[in-house]
Amino acid sequence: MDHFQLKDGVLHAEDVALSDIAEQVGTPVYVYSRATLERHARVFREGLKDAGKIHLAFAVKSNPNLAVLKILANQGYGADVVSGGELERALAAGMKADDIVFSGVGKSRAELTLGLDKGIGQFNLESEEEGQMLAEIAASRGENASATLRVNPDVDAGTHAKISTGKAENKFGVAIDVAPDIFARLSKLEGLNLRGVAVHIGSQLQNLDPLEKCYTRMGQLLSDLRSAGHAITHVDLGGGLGVPYKPEENPPSPADYGAMVARVTEGWDVTLMFEPGRVIAGNSGVMMTQVIRIKPGVNSDFVIVDAAMNDLMRPAIYDAWHHFEAVQPTGDSMTASIVGPICESSDIFAKEREVDRVQTDDLGIFRTAGAYGATMANTYNSRPLVPEVLVDGDKYAVVAERIEPSTIMAAEHVPDWLK
Ligand code: LLP
Repeated sequence: MDHFQLKDGVLHAEDVALSDIAEQVGTPVYVYSRATLERHARVFREGLKDAGKIHLAFAVKSNPNLAVLKILANQGYGADVVSGGELERALAAGMKADDIVFSGVGKSRAELTLGLDKGIGQFNLESEEEGQMLAEIAASRGENASATLRVNPDVDAGTHAKISTGKAENKFGVAIDVAPDIFARLSKLEGLNLRGVAVHIGSQLQNLDPLEKCYTRMGQLLSDLRSAGHAITHVDLGGGLGVPYKPEENPPSPADYGAMVARVTEGWDVTLMFEPGRVIAGNSGVMMTQVIRIKPGVNSDFVIVDAAMNDLMRPAIYDAWHHFEAVQPTGDSMTASIVGPICESSDIFAKEREVDRVQTDDLGIFRTAGAYGATMANTYNSRPLVPEVLVDGDKYAVVAERIEPSTIMAAEHVPDWLK
């Protein structure tokens, strides 16, 4: 459930008319709903009520806006970060260092050091080599870094290939069959407190079966590691729960997920860690755009909007579907392709789709844009970087400004020898 609904014929975010935001802030713009973010954070936690001791780490990559992170920090969430930049953001938003988990396949020496400097709670190691580097840095400082070993369980998540991470051929983690040997070697290293294992098989999962298969394999690994004499106190089960992008989609709910987790992990006697991103942020945000003009096409008209693939990349790179709606729908519909102004044929949000009828200057939204939306935006075609707005009841604030090309140009330099 979200708080983007029609009121008196105008789409609102909570109690704010989206048309008011467009007038004040301009378009394209991302709009987030605080009440929706909080609701999703609560529902996810409640889903896990029977899963014993849990630790929730919001996947910062899905929406790293400081105001969004602050809301999640207030809901008792920590952070799953994958770069020094995300780590700095989580801390700046008020998340406790101890609640931060550092994931990512290529943590550099500088990033590992930053994690130690800040005293983060856990590193999820993606290779033996990374474990050796972390151990060496921590030992040289007389410290002991808490860590888990990320395992690749060789499970097909059944999601888009570009967001699958748990197949043997993927770059993530260490193969589950060699994990016990690597664990044994790493656990002997000075500087490392190897306390568990981690897994994440992919994102936008539509079905619990692959997750159940994966967690069952992790249960077997857990007992093998314990039989080998290792003390395991933490198992990180990653993120990945899907959300509905189309009205008719019905992915498993956090309650279904939590019930499966409670059943599969019964008796594990560990702190279970979770890294949800999309399920919290996805339907908490929309991207609003304005129609520039309608252009006749061969198969259907083109609705040319002022948002483009640089603002919301998911359709261009994953063929993702984002539901389009007019901010002030007339009740009529049309078949059209919705496209942005960028000079690439992949700059298309909807192909020959039945949508609300819109005309020049009308406003529309793409739903489910709160996760992997603004965070993946860029300035291709020297377009501005898209701004973000947070709504709370009847008030709203710009939580990320539009960054104009002039600001970006100011950081570029033409060397003297070209002048
Ligand atoms: N933990 C790890 C280690 C991850 O790699 C990810 C996502 C998550 C947690 C959060 O997964 P979530 O709960 O959000 O599914 N840009 C793509 C999604 C990439 C996901 C990458 N990893 C998209 O727009 O669909």
